Amino acid sequence: MDKNRVEAALKGVMHPVREQDVISLGLIEDIKIEEGKVRLKLVFPSPDPLASSIKKSCEEAIRSAFPGEDFKIAIMELVRERKIEKRLNLELGQEAIQHVGHIIAISSGKGGVGKSTVAVNLAVALAKEGYRVGLTDADVYGPSVPKMTGTEDEKPMVEDSSGKDMIIPIEKYGIKWMSIGYFSPPSQPLIWRGPMASNALKQMILQVQWGELDFLLIDLPPGTGDIHISLVHDIPLSGAIIVSTPQAVALADVEKGVNMFRQKDINKPILGLVENMAWFTPEELPDNKYYIFGKDGGKDMAAKFDIPLLGQIPLVQSIRESGDNGEPVTLSDSNRPDTIAFTKLARNIIKQLE
Ligand SMILES: Nc1ncnc2c1ncn2[C@@H]1O[C@H](COP(=O)(O)OP(=O)(O)OP(=O)(O)O)[C@@H](O)[C@H]1O
Ligand SMILES: [Mg+2]
Repeated sequence: MDKNRVEAALKGVMHPVREQDVISLGLIEDIKIEEGKVRLKLVFPSPDPLASSIKKSCEEAIRSAFPGEDFKIAIMELVRERKIEKRLNLELGQEAIQHVGHIIAISSGKGGVGKSTVAVNLAVALAKEGYRVGLTDADVYGPSVPKMTGTEDEKPMVEDSSGKDMIIPIEKYGIKWMSIGYFSPPSQPLIWRGPMASNALKQMILQVQWGELDFLLIDLPPGTGDIHISLVHDIPLSGAIIVSTPQAVALADVEKGVNMFRQKDINKPILGLVENMAWFTPEELPDNKYYIFGKDGGKDMAAKFDIPLLGQIPLVQSIRESGDNGEPVTLSDSNRPDTIAFTKLARNIIKQLE
């Protein structure tokens, strides 16, 4: 299989309204042939109601260019040129983030509630909306972003930039990823103490060549300890998102998270709450919702702490599977319930920032 044949096939896909093919219109970028997979980006200059049907035609054209061959096609659909202009107030040593529009921390009082899943899928959803996105995995104890993005074998390069070593982030799915996991053998738990962990974490943000980004997401480790406080104090955050499951027992953890950001000497805005595993939806019955952890838990929590409920993410098997396979579910079809939930979340966050 080769790139030229993919391109030739796409030459035959016409935009139904603009009456030109997708290659001539410049809608196709980054065609890559990987083992058993054709990957490319379909980039629209502005939101296009025909996007899904054009994507489908592209898939069909590629498929028929290689008859009898067994391969997968991954087309990422995005909208170009929606830039966030806001610049952060920087201190010395923060040059790495000087061209970043917003830094958002994803946090939770408790572990295992789906923080990393939300962070990774939110990154993809924002990228699909046309923004330039980076994500740093600040979980020094259990980094999971490399696995969730299928980048666990990557080793970031280090480049000298005016006398300072800067780490080049890993790029995949049109997003820049950074994780402490890239620097240690997987499966080896990291046992770090306070200041060391805190410094490593800041390096994952301030010693990375992020370049121009609209959003930099920080997947924080669970909890509200000293490491968190030091980080949220020192990094110019636009705001924080708190992830929780709906159970009443999670309320105390959400409260700890809220209090951390509202502490007097930290005082960073909380953009809102994300209720993960809000209900269970079986793949084959997407309209059925089973409130196995109780209904309205997230709504009640948000009301109690006077923060917006930014999104409700269903518990779906594909979210877990795609996390394990390194292909975030939000990359797939836009009309699936899980992808819709993450897209809504991304749009609500943008609204909240405005
Ligand atoms: N909405 C969901 N539907 C199905 N599975 C989910 C969902 N959210 C998270 N999971 C699964 O639950 C597990 C824990 O999620 P994740 O690693 O994102 O949590 P976390 O809060 O980041 O955990 P940690 O505190 O260890 O960092 C993962 O296996 C993930 O795939
Ligand atoms: Mg995590």
